[in-house]
Amino acid sequence: MSKSLQAIRGMNDILPEQTPLWRHFEGTVARLLDNYGYKQIRMPIVEFTELFKRSIGEVTDIVEKEMYTFDDRNGDSLTLRPEGTAACVRAVLEHGITGGGQVQKLWYVGPMFRHERPQKGRYRQFHQIGLEVFNLEGPDIDAELIVLTWRLWGELGIRDAVKLELNSLGTSESRGRYREALVAFLSEHLDKLDEDSQRRLKTNPLRVLDTKNADTQAILADAPKMADYLDDESRLHFEGLKARLDAVGIPYVINPKLVRGLDYYSKTVFEWVTDKLGAQGTVCAGGRYDGLVEQMGGKPTPGVGFAMGIERLVLMLETLEQIPEEISRQVDVYLCAFGEAAELAGLALAERVRDQLPNLRLQVNAGAGSFKSQFKKADKSGALYALILGDDEMARQVVGFKPLRGQGEQQSIAWDALAAHLATCIVQG
Ligand code: HAM
Repeated sequence: MSKSLQAIRGMNDILPEQTPLWRHFEGTVARLLDNYGYKQIRMPIVEFTELFKRSIGEVTDIVEKEMYTFDDRNGDSLTLRPEGTAACVRAVLEHGITGGGQVQKLWYVGPMFRHERPQKGRYRQFHQIGLEVFNLEGPDIDAELIVLTWRLWGELGIRDAVKLELNSLGTSESRGRYREALVAFLSEHLDKLDEDSQRRLKTNPLRVLDTKNADTQAILADAPKMADYLDDESRLHFEGLKARLDAVGIPYVINPKLVRGLDYYSKTVFEWVTDKLGAQGTVCAGGRYDGLVEQMGGKPTPGVGFAMGIERLVLMLETLEQIPEEISRQVDVYLCAFGEAAELAGLALAERVRDQLPNLRLQVNAGAGSFKSQFKKADKSGALYALILGDDEMARQVVGFKPLRGQGEQQSIAWDALAAHLATCIVQG
């Protein structure tokens, strides 16, 4: 195939064999978020470039190196969203739905775009489910976000494989004081820092804490600690969060080097990490951003949220073999009909059964075929039962009912009794 007809590097098709697991994951999250009282919001995939520059921060990897930015036909600079928080803040401001202190508990799902180096668990188009809560400033809501992810890991069967890392970046005042102390310390060791950290020291010094360079990490061992610079408000907030996690029994480790790659955070930051995926081990991450709404032109409005990477979590379900049996089976019953009269009767019968059992996954053979070929298709579909409609069954107004998996003889079921019979045989999702 010529190159122009291939998908763009780092942007993947999600094939029919993969979508059941995606839908299982997305469905589990959506149900859980409904139960916790979150409402879905849908934002456009493209926004003005300025939005991301102003919110994520000009000197972040995302804005400096990773955005898909282009001019549209009007000459406006647009960007494919690299994340959801900025657009969500823009949307709530634009529609005035956080005004007057209105609480909003929102979630979204969809593709995000970052021009990163693709590898396992890291793509250029990837998918997030994100949550954003506005106008709640206490640690109780930070705790709720973490508690509900903990429940999600439990429901998905991956709780033992993830670890929670927590940190507090403090209010902007305490972070400012810490930044000064850190810059003073690192400046004394300037010539021993790696090149990237030397640059970050000037542009975004807290990000030096995030370095992967071993020599710089060694220097950082003696650097001032954020925890020593937290003001009382930030400290109490963080204590409040920890007390709530303790009350529910959620284990965590404090990681003083956790600063996150986006500039809008204050106070709580957290990441759920796993060692099951190799280098790309963060499956869910977020934190509080009390200054962001104001920074984007709104009234001061506390905010907190997180996003999880769907590809990474689906990979985890596969790696840990947490794939429920029923999602791999997509057909319950397969109807085979032989001859034109049987096809017509079969079609009408299938619709009557669907009226009575709306959740039944009933597939009607299409494309006719011999007894042997239809049976082969029935078997390949994964169905539990085949329904057979030939001349003999037509004459007696019955269908042949044949178990395809395991034991059981073929029986004849009257057309009128078919739905009731299927209801007793099949546990419907
Ligand atoms: P983030 O840490 O940039 O935060 O991304 C959140 C999650 O998205 C990551 O933990 C990871 O699971 C997934 N992810 C990020 N980049 C990629 C990629 N290239 N390929 C695959 N998965 C990826 C945010 O985006 C913030 N907006 C989260 C947030 C919401 N904070 C507050 N509210």
